[in-house]
Amino acid sequence: MGESKTVHSPLITYVSMLSLLTLCPPFVILLWYTMVHADGSVSQTWDYFKQHGFQGFKNTWPKPTAIAWKIIACFAVFEAVLQLFLPGKRVEGPISPAGNRPVYKANGLAAYAVTLITYLGLWWFGIFNPAIVYDHLGEIFSALIFGSFIFCIFLYIKGHLAPSSTDSGSSGNLIIDFYWGMELYPRIGKDFDIKVFTNCRFGMMSWAVLAVTYCIKQYEEYGRVADSMLVNTTLMLVYVTKFFWWEAGYWNTMDIAHDRAGFYICWGCLVWVPSVYTSPGMYLVNHPVNLGVQLAIYIFLAGIVCIYVNYDCDRQRQEFRRTNGKSLVWGKAPSKIEAFYHTTSGEKKSSLLLTSGWWGLSRHFHYVPEILAAFFWTLPALFSHCLPYFYVVFLTILLFDRAKRDDDRCRSKYGKYWKLYCNKVPYRIIPGIY
Ligand SMILES: NC(=O)c1ccc[n+]([C@@H]2O[C@H](COP(=O)([O-])OP(=O)(O)OC[C@H]3O[C@@H](n4cnc5c(N)ncnc54)[C@H](OP(=O)(O)O)[C@@H]3O)[C@@H](O)[C@H]2O)c1
Repeated sequence: MGESKTVHSPLITYVSMLSLLTLCPPFVILLWYTMVHADGSVSQTWDYFKQHGFQGFKNTWPKPTAIAWKIIACFAVFEAVLQLFLPGKRVEGPISPAGNRPVYKANGLAAYAVTLITYLGLWWFGIFNPAIVYDHLGEIFSALIFGSFIFCIFLYIKGHLAPSSTDSGSSGNLIIDFYWGMELYPRIGKDFDIKVFTNCRFGMMSWAVLAVTYCIKQYEEYGRVADSMLVNTTLMLVYVTKFFWWEAGYWNTMDIAHDRAGFYICWGCLVWVPSVYTSPGMYLVNHPVNLGVQLAIYIFLAGIVCIYVNYDCDRQRQEFRRTNGKSLVWGKAPSKIEAFYHTTSGEKKSSLLLTSGWWGLSRHFHYVPEILAAFFWTLPALFSHCLPYFYVVFLTILLFDRAKRDDDRCRSKYGKYWKLYCNKVPYRIIPGIY
């Protein structure tokens, strides 16, 4: 536990934790304000605050209104019901550090389809206009900021008083416990997995729902959808569809298998994903940029290739692990390392590390197409303003930090076997460069 202790120095850990805890909430509001009310222009927002000072900032921070809470509550309850009751295959997650194996119901793709069909159906039949969500976006983000903070306090208390499994523990430090979380697999009852809800069914689902919302808002505003918006929305929807198609695979990744349920991952998925991840689309609503058919097609195709390569990297690793190293990798038998490690209870176990295919190019090659895909769905905004590119820049920093965190974790888990992998595949992310 206290993963941050092993990765960065205590000073950097505390400074970064406290900065993120205090700066992320106002940033979400500033981003929304700039995109929706200041033409996407950072300098316009800057001028406004120069003139109006802190009072100006307080005035721009919307109060969470009843309609905002209602929209969030309807969405959250709808998703929770789908998660609990839609049928799905029983899937086992990877063995946890304490030697447990979490079990899930794989109904994400069905939940995704039901959500989008319902949302579009409500619009089509005139029952609910998604433009209302855009019109109350600031209030919704404001409510999410406060609501999710309270939810993280609940996770902290639950971790202390009623952990769901032995994969839980305290670092002895309140801030670290709150920030990094205490439980790896918190559940309500036996079946309702909280991280599947926050990360997948609320966070990722809200990304798709808001992408569609932005498109509909532009249509209502201008009577048509610009090709830039179409490329952006379609690429983001392809990405999220890929996510739900492969959701059971996501349950094997760091977010679920290593990061505990705390502010970092849960607040991030409940607030940062709907606001920051969707921000290129938020910008395009009132910037109907015209790309022309040819450029639109080139950007779209480049984005699709990146999303596919990113998917294929994840698929390759998971097929390799699922078949116990017997799957073909780029048409050949894979090269691999059998790495031994001990669980926290002292049991000796082994994992296979793939050292060919995408995983032979660099140890985290999959982050390259992930970042490029984000660049290509932002590119339709062209270059009048830099703010739409914030997500790409943020993602690059996040993934470079994540690669380091993952390397450090794997080094301490696998010891000499990880060293062997690093000798065989020396680059961390960009082959030949880094
Ligand atoms: N948009 C976003 O904000 C965002 C953020 C993060 C990730 N992602 C995407 O989510 C997906 C998953 O990424 P992830 O960062 O969670 O990491 P990941 O690559 O799925 O998981 C890393 C884990 O894989 C295992 N591993 C490492 N090297 C291996 C090898 N050579 N062969 C087999 N297993 C190996 C290790 O776990 P063991 O302990 O099991 O060995 C390691 O901790 C990626 O597509 C990524 O781009 C997106």
